[in-house]
Amino acid sequence: MTDLLFIKHAAQLITVEGHSEKPAKKQAMSEITVIENGAVLVQDGKVLDVGETSAIEAKYSELIATANHIDATNKTVTPGLIDPHTHLVHAGTRENEYAMRLQGKTYMDIMNAGGGIHATTRATQEASFEQLYAESKARLDKFLTHGVTTVEAKSGYGLSLEHEIKQLEVSKKLQQNHHMDIVSTFMGAHAIPLADKDDPERFVDQVIDEMIPEVARRGLATFNDVFCERGVFTPEQSRRILEAGKEHGLIPKIHADEIEPYGGAELAAEVGAISADHLLRASSQGIEQMAERDVIAVLLPGTAFFLMAEFAEARKMIDRGVAVALSTDANPGSSPTLSLPFIMNLGCLKMGMTPEEVITATTINAAHAIGRADTIGSLEKGKQADITIFDVPNYLTLSYQYGMNHVDTVIKKGIPVVI
Ligand code: NIG
Ligand code: FE
Repeated sequence: MTDLLFIKHAAQLITVEGHSEKPAKKQAMSEITVIENGAVLVQDGKVLDVGETSAIEAKYSELIATANHIDATNKTVTPGLIDPHTHLVHAGTRENEYAMRLQGKTYMDIMNAGGGIHATTRATQEASFEQLYAESKARLDKFLTHGVTTVEAKSGYGLSLEHEIKQLEVSKKLQQNHHMDIVSTFMGAHAIPLADKDDPERFVDQVIDEMIPEVARRGLATFNDVFCERGVFTPEQSRRILEAGKEHGLIPKIHADEIEPYGGAELAAEVGAISADHLLRASSQGIEQMAERDVIAVLLPGTAFFLMAEFAEARKMIDRGVAVALSTDANPGSSPTLSLPFIMNLGCLKMGMTPEEVITATTINAAHAIGRADTIGSLEKGKQADITIFDVPNYLTLSYQYGMNHVDTVIKKGIPVVI
């Protein structure tokens, strides 16, 4: 007995097909493939076929007779959204710092005074595994209700071997128990612990000599990320950390040029990072080098919005041939949101992206940014049946009616998990 699900009569079915081999760039970012009155037939958690409802009905009449049906009349069906950059696992919130920033304090002022990432690190170190698990699970539930079916999750609020591993173990257990797929990134180099302030190299050595080997040995992460920013990790320290990760099979990612231009985009190209993220202040040269070396730009406009900063130059990046993905950067300091659809709105309204480009950026290009484009990110034969149904009659309405949750149904591996 196979498990069959038939989603039919979608006003628009968006497949985003044809970009699984390579991230979509330039004009290809607009090629999302829209099928009117569309259908998807799912068998055993995978996409069996997609097409016009009448064509799929004619081709698979016997299978469809035994399938569960979902009528998507007047609705828009897309691949499950993918969030390729989150700080999912952490304890607590920082609304007090938000109030301080509204009074004129800057993000870096607060961090340098021992707040910011340090505040969340204290809370995360103090939290038990169970507490962290419960908080993070609640966030995953909210991500799902906003149409997201896969997230990347970083460590980086442990800042010691014991607590970094605790964070990564929480992600691992959530991957085992939750519907969401979670891709793990080690980010021990998220901040220099206050205790090492006078000797940052000591902490860099600890990340390289102790943490990276142990995280890799335990198989707890796929990627290795570093916050390359003035006052945090220098480009030279970042290079060492990313190269050390590579030696242990961890693929480089980088928080680059978020607050000021600092050579982060250039470094991403040099070390062959899969993505460079943020890039609010990336140089033109850095953007050119990213295009040449196929580094994906993971842009986080929620962070620019929330820090009241300039937005990344998405239009320029796309026009120069950089593949762009979008993400929430969900974290308690610079982007406390779990709504990827709102980030899509910002992509259009604040970064000059088109509604087609933001769909590509949150599906197949986001999948490429976490190395999963072979199985997710588009609705094509054989791919995992991760599907989001929005209660809007066309995809344009998704970026037009902003600040609302339009999600109607979320299907993960063929199973409706949000109805
Ligand atoms: O991506 N910039 C560094 N890390 C996060 C913020 C983390 C925090 O403030 O807690 C970011 O913006
Ligand atoms: Fe981040």
